[in-house]
Amino acid sequence: MKVLGINALFHDPSAALVVDGVTVSAAEEERFSRRKHGHRPVPFAAWELPELAARWCLEDAGLEPGDLDAVTYSFDVALARPAEELGLHDPWDHLRQTYAREAPGFLSTALPGLDPAAVRNVPHHVAHAASAALATPYGPANGEPVDVLVLDGRGECASHLAGTYDAAGRLTTHHTQELPHSLGLLYEDLTEHLGFLRSSDEYKVMAMASYGEPRFLGELRERVRSTDDGGFVTERIDWNALAKRLAPGEEWTPEHADLAASVQRRLEEVLLDLTRWLRGRTGNRSLALAGGVALNCVANTVLHAESGYDHVWVQPAAGDSGTALGSALHVAAAAGDQLAPWPGADLGRGWSDDEIEFVLRTAQLPYERPDEQAGGVAAAVAECLAADGVVAWFQGRSEFGPRALGHRSLMAHPGRAQNLERLNDVKGREQFRPVAPMVLSHRAGEIFSRGPLPSPSMLFVHDVAPEWRDRIPAVVHVDGTARIQTVDPADEPLVAAMLAEFERRTGLPVVVNTSLNTAGRPMVDSPRDALECFGSAPVDLLAIGPFVIRRARVAG
Ligand SMILES: [Fe+2]
Repeated sequence: MKVLGINALFHDPSAALVVDGVTVSAAEEERFSRRKHGHRPVPFAAWELPELAARWCLEDAGLEPGDLDAVTYSFDVALARPAEELGLHDPWDHLRQTYAREAPGFLSTALPGLDPAAVRNVPHHVAHAASAALATPYGPANGEPVDVLVLDGRGECASHLAGTYDAAGRLTTHHTQELPHSLGLLYEDLTEHLGFLRSSDEYKVMAMASYGEPRFLGELRERVRSTDDGGFVTERIDWNALAKRLAPGEEWTPEHADLAASVQRRLEEVLLDLTRWLRGRTGNRSLALAGGVALNCVANTVLHAESGYDHVWVQPAAGDSGTALGSALHVAAAAGDQLAPWPGADLGRGWSDDEIEFVLRTAQLPYERPDEQAGGVAAAVAECLAADGVVAWFQGRSEFGPRALGHRSLMAHPGRAQNLERLNDVKGREQFRPVAPMVLSHRAGEIFSRGPLPSPSMLFVHDVAPEWRDRIPAVVHVDGTARIQTVDPADEPLVAAMLAEFERRTGLPVVVNTSLNTAGRPMVDSPRDALECFGSAPVDLLAIGPFVIRRARVAG
């Protein structure tokens, strides 16, 4: 069957298309609207319909709205209750519920020809659960059962789901944690307390945690606890009593880093309790994770190392954008479609060489097409990186989810420590945040340990071997870790070829890889976005399809 999945309600509006069990396309609305995360995550901006992403999914597949068997919506308003009943302070929540109730009408207006009766509500956390458990190669897509944990801020009236998908793709829910107890909202509260944007900047808190000591762990352990039934309690925390509230942009102190470290550590401890409870109950070998908290790659590595599961698989679009895909997979599985596993994150827009060349000609830019016999664009990029240039890399279809995985990337030499600061400047990021390495798969084991290998989606952190830390200083975080992407030539031949060319020149099978965007902007998606980014940032070379554009040297 043909199912269009829609996420429109909490964060990161997105659309995904599943045809006969195969994930065909998926994209966040921000890549089209050019507004990061879609609407701003402030309380009264309760929704945004992913109109542009949905239309593109259909156009790309040659479908009309009337061809769809179902449109899934990753929130079930019938399960929702008023915010005050849930113990939440959220005065605009009723707007969100109104919008969800009217969603079929809105969708049929946005996609003319769509029958509103085709719209199906899928509970938010079932959609998250399906996005991981039905996509992982260690689950029903491969004829195996898999446990699933959803770790989120909030859904209709819960913040978590612990369940199992059987080999046929049917979900049994073991436990859900009712609101207001929420590990995601706890982390969001801390994010806001530290002067960052909640529901958006949580990864900054995770990065800051590496600079601190968890000296408030005692207080946190009293107020945040797992319970015997597979759930947990999060009591209100007087953050100000631990470290003073920061205004946006205000300098943080060691005390703030200690607070971040304490919450991070307590989160890891409670997640470990939840996973051990689930594994003890089912005895299954594999665990799938989704929900915004599952983007915490430091916690994911703890679960990988200590939970007892053989495989911990995290949905790369673990945040709300992934619920568009998960809701569609859930309905397809329920209808009996045989599901294919996650095909890779390159589910967004792509352009042919001719289309790219047309854009370059229109912009009247001097471009060249490196000789394929001499290594083509992979060699040209490696040459520039080896000479300490910064490269914008635009290849194939764009990524679904928050990570650049070799399709819309900004790259640099990992051997120069100052490249961390240089890239953070290009991107307008805080200097305490790390940048990540991509590494040839077969070389990863000698450099990186503790996290799983291969690790193709940057969802875990790894320890960097001591003898390598001085060789690749730009990608080693203050705590000696790195959030790696392993690159297998079978999956990503062009990126692998570039890495091999770079290694031939420098002896390093590693390149710095961060997402291709500048401050506050979504990731580059189209060739035109790429040219805007190249035109406005100190990037030395743009590699776009088989073409390269070099920055002209300015005299003086
Ligand atoms: Fe969610």
